[in-house]
Amino acid sequence: MRIGIVGAGYVGLVTGAGLAQMGHQVTLIDIDRHKVEMINRCESPIHEEGLDSLLRSLVPDRLKANVEIEDGFGNVDAIFICVQSSSSDNEHLDLSYVMAAARDIGRALGNRRGEYPVVVVKSTVSPGSTEGVVIPLLEQSSGKRAGIDFGVMANPEFLREGTAISDFLEPDRIIIGGLDAKGEAVLEEVYRGINATVVKVDLKTAEMIKFASNAFLATKVSFINEIGNICKLLGIDAYKVAGAIGADPRISPHYLRAGIGFGGSCLPKDTKDLSIVARRLGYEPTLLRSVLEVNERQPLRLVDLAEKKLGSLRGRRAAILGLAFKPGTDDLRKAPSIQVVEELLRRGAVVVVYDPAAQIRAKAIWPDVVTYAESARQAVSQADAVFILTEWEEFKDVRLYAGKAVFDGRRVLKPSDVSGLNYDGICW
Ligand code: UDX
Repeated sequence: MRIGIVGAGYVGLVTGAGLAQMGHQVTLIDIDRHKVEMINRCESPIHEEGLDSLLRSLVPDRLKANVEIEDGFGNVDAIFICVQSSSSDNEHLDLSYVMAAARDIGRALGNRRGEYPVVVVKSTVSPGSTEGVVIPLLEQSSGKRAGIDFGVMANPEFLREGTAISDFLEPDRIIIGGLDAKGEAVLEEVYRGINATVVKVDLKTAEMIKFASNAFLATKVSFINEIGNICKLLGIDAYKVAGAIGADPRISPHYLRAGIGFGGSCLPKDTKDLSIVARRLGYEPTLLRSVLEVNERQPLRLVDLAEKKLGSLRGRRAAILGLAFKPGTDDLRKAPSIQVVEELLRRGAVVVVYDPAAQIRAKAIWPDVVTYAESARQAVSQADAVFILTEWEEFKDVRLYAGKAVFDGRRVLKPSDVSGLNYDGICW
C-alpha cells in the first residue's frame, strides 16, 4: 500500500520504518528540512536502537522523506498524523500541530478524485479530538465529507523508547478506532502481516485507551514508589515486596521497579493531559493528581537521603551517573535526573555528570553549571558522593564505587554487590 506520514518525530519515523519494513511504500513529511535530509541520507535523527540500519535497508526504495505534502500525497491509501501534541499548561491541551497537519492533509485530499483515502490519527490526542477537531478541519480544507469521501481512524501507538521498532512490529494489540467500516478495512489491510489482537472501537474510545494505558503505567510506578518509601522507613527492601506481590497475576511483576520515578515524553504528559480532560468535564481526578505528586517529589527523596547521611551538601562533590530518563535513549524529557541535579546545585553541591548517550542534550540544559566527565570512572574519581540515576549497564560495575558514598535511585546494584560499600538505595 502507499502510505503517507505527517510528522517524522519519534512516532512518525518508527511507524514509517515499520510499515516500510512490512513492504508498504512510505512517504514521510516533516517541516524540519534538516530532519528530512538526514532521513534521506539514511541517518536517524533520533537515538533509537536499530533504526539507522533499518533506514539503510529501506531508503529510498520503500521509504523517503519530503518537506511538502504536495510532493508526496498524490495517491496514498492512508495518511497517518504523527505530529506532537501536548498540554501547553495546567489547563490547556495544545493541538496546534495536529490541527495544522489536518488542514494540510485536507487541502491534499481536496485534489483527490475517486478512491477512498483514509486519515489515521496516531498522535496522542485527548478523547473527542478526532471527532471534534480533526474531522471538521479535514472537511473544511478539503470540501469533502468524512465517512463518505474519505475515512478517518484513530490508531494510538504504545511504543517504548529503546525498543520502539520491535514494539511496532510485535505489538500487544492494535487499537483501531473507526468512523466507518470502509476505513477500518483499509487500516486492517495496512497492518495485515502483524500478528496481534485487533481491538475495534469508536474514535473516542481508541483515544481514551491510549491515555488510560499510560496513566495506569504511571500509577503503577507511583504506587510501588509510595510502597517503597514506606519500606525504606521500615528497613524493608521494596524489591522483595514487589517480587512477592507481583506473583499474583492480578498485580503482575511488570512495571513494579521502585526508584526515582517515571520520566519521558509520555507518562508524565499523558497522565497530566488526562487530568486536564477530567477537570474540564467537572471531575476532579484525585488519583491521577496524586500519581503526579508522588512522582514530582520522588527524585528529591534521594537528595534528602544523601543529606541525612552526609549532612550539608554545600561544597560536596557529587557525581551523577545517568541523565537519560531510562537506558537505551538520549532523551531527557521529564527525566528525574533533572530535578536531582537542580536540587544538588540549589543545596550548594559541586556537580559532575556522566551519561553514555545524553550528554549533548544535557549541555543544552546546563551549559556551564556542571562538569561533564568523559567516563563513569572519571566522574566518580572526583566525587565524595555518587548518585546513580539511570540503569545503564556499565554502572553495574561495583568497582566504580569503592570508598564513595553511593545513593542508588535505580537499583543498579544488587544487595549481594554492596557489602563493604557505603551504599544506600532510595527504596531498599
Ligand atoms: C511509555 C510506555 O511504556 C509506552 O507504552 C508508551 O507508548 C509511551 O510511554 P517510554 O516512555 O518509552 O514508554 O518508557 P518506559 O520504558 O515505559 O518507562 C517510562 C518511565 O517509567 C521511565 O522513566 C522508567 O525509568 C520508569 N519506570 C518504568 C519505573 O520507574 N519503574 C518501572 O517499573 C517501569
